[in-house]
Amino acid sequence: MSNQVLTLKYRPQTFDELLVQEHVSDTLSKAIENQRFANAYLFAGPRGVGKTTTARILAKSLNCLSYNAPTTTPCNKCSACLEIAASRSMDVLEIDGASNRGIDQIRELRENIKYAPSSLRYKVYIIDEVHMLTEPAFNALLKTLEEPPAHARFVFATTEAHKVPTTILSRCQRFDFRRATSSEIADRLRWIAGKEKIKASDDALVAVARRAEGAIRDGESILEQLATYRPEGIEVKDVEELLGIVPAELFVDYVDLLIKGDIAGLLRFADRLFERGFDLVEFHSGLVSHLRNILLVQAGGPVDRLGLLPAERKKLKEQASAVARAALMQSLEAVLKAEESAKRSRLQRVVFEYLSLDLAARLSGAGAPAAPEPRASHSPRSRPKPKKTEDSGLEDIRDVFGDIEEN
Ligand SMILES: Nc1ncnc2c1ncn2[C@@H]1O[C@H](COP(=O)(O)OP(=O)(O)O)[C@@H](O)[C@H]1O
Ligand SMILES: [Mg+2]
Ligand SMILES: [Zn+2]
Repeated sequence: MSNQVLTLKYRPQTFDELLVQEHVSDTLSKAIENQRFANAYLFAGPRGVGKTTTARILAKSLNCLSYNAPTTTPCNKCSACLEIAASRSMDVLEIDGASNRGIDQIRELRENIKYAPSSLRYKVYIIDEVHMLTEPAFNALLKTLEEPPAHARFVFATTEAHKVPTTILSRCQRFDFRRATSSEIADRLRWIAGKEKIKASDDALVAVARRAEGAIRDGESILEQLATYRPEGIEVKDVEELLGIVPAELFVDYVDLLIKGDIAGLLRFADRLFERGFDLVEFHSGLVSHLRNILLVQAGGPVDRLGLLPAERKKLKEQASAVARAALMQSLEAVLKAEESAKRSRLQRVVFEYLSLDLAARLSGAGAPAAPEPRASHSPRSRPKPKKTEDSGLEDIRDVFGDIEEN
């Protein structure tokens, strides 16, 4: 299986099939029903969320031969629909703005656009990553946008709308495509796995969905890779292995130790982490999102969108009630800082151990009794002021390790 099959096979072919971007499909459908569509659209948003897909559906809507006029329900059977879906239509031109950035390419477009469509109602120019055009190219494009032929329509797609000149923006109707939530992606993957008879545990699909970080395409590609890698069935550990992710339960365990202020446990945890060869930068970013999730739970945020398993949600709630929000915020900041040092430092382990003691000092005050400590002075709760924590954290490290063997 090449790494493209699923995304090609499951590319939505109608507005109804397009997920997540209902605000876009609804508005476009209404415009088509009223025969009042704009000359140029700008589709802004991250990669893999349906911009190209929507541009093609729009092109089919304008041109479907089963109707005498634009339709919201293109047939997907006529030659126009089939050619557009396969990007083979002479009249629907997909231009990659990143590799056709210059004035010459836009001049060519201006020459070409004058001629009537060869077989369709409308010529549709889809320019992807339009923000990459050079300034002269934008200026040439602007001239065309100021006086477009009646038979031409534009769709610009971009992941960086802020780089598109306002002169262009002001001539476009803009749609902002949003990232999908983890649970939306997980639903989609469940559905595809069912259709494709891909065996995968639900936890595994949830882990993939999270890793996709809002990009539906990425979720589908990862699922495809995994299906090839583990045809006998995909488990969470396969996802973690393939993608090098630190398992989610490790963050739960880690924060439990922090809340308990269990220094000995934290040091054993560090051992385990390094033995298993986890990437520290990866661990930090996972920890950041775990802490953020706790904050979300505390604030009554949209937790159901995170795509968590019931057990994880329960655990998050427990942790959320055990720590103060201010301490959480400070901890987040500390982790972000440590992440930066970890990127630069060869002493990854020291960075991590220091961070652990620092976080334990911040998070362990609020509730549960601290785990037994060999020496009272190590109890983070006995530290009087947060300002002192940093120094005492370092002392702790020196005390506990004597001389540190670095790896
Ligand atoms: N909104 C969506 N609904 C359903 N599938 C989607 C959606 N967005 C992306 N996909 C999946 O990802 C693939 C690539 O989407 P695409 O439209 O090319 O993304 P973009 O142009 O935003 O990078 C599609 O073929 C489809 O499989
Ligand atoms: Mg695209
Ligand atoms: Zn058709």
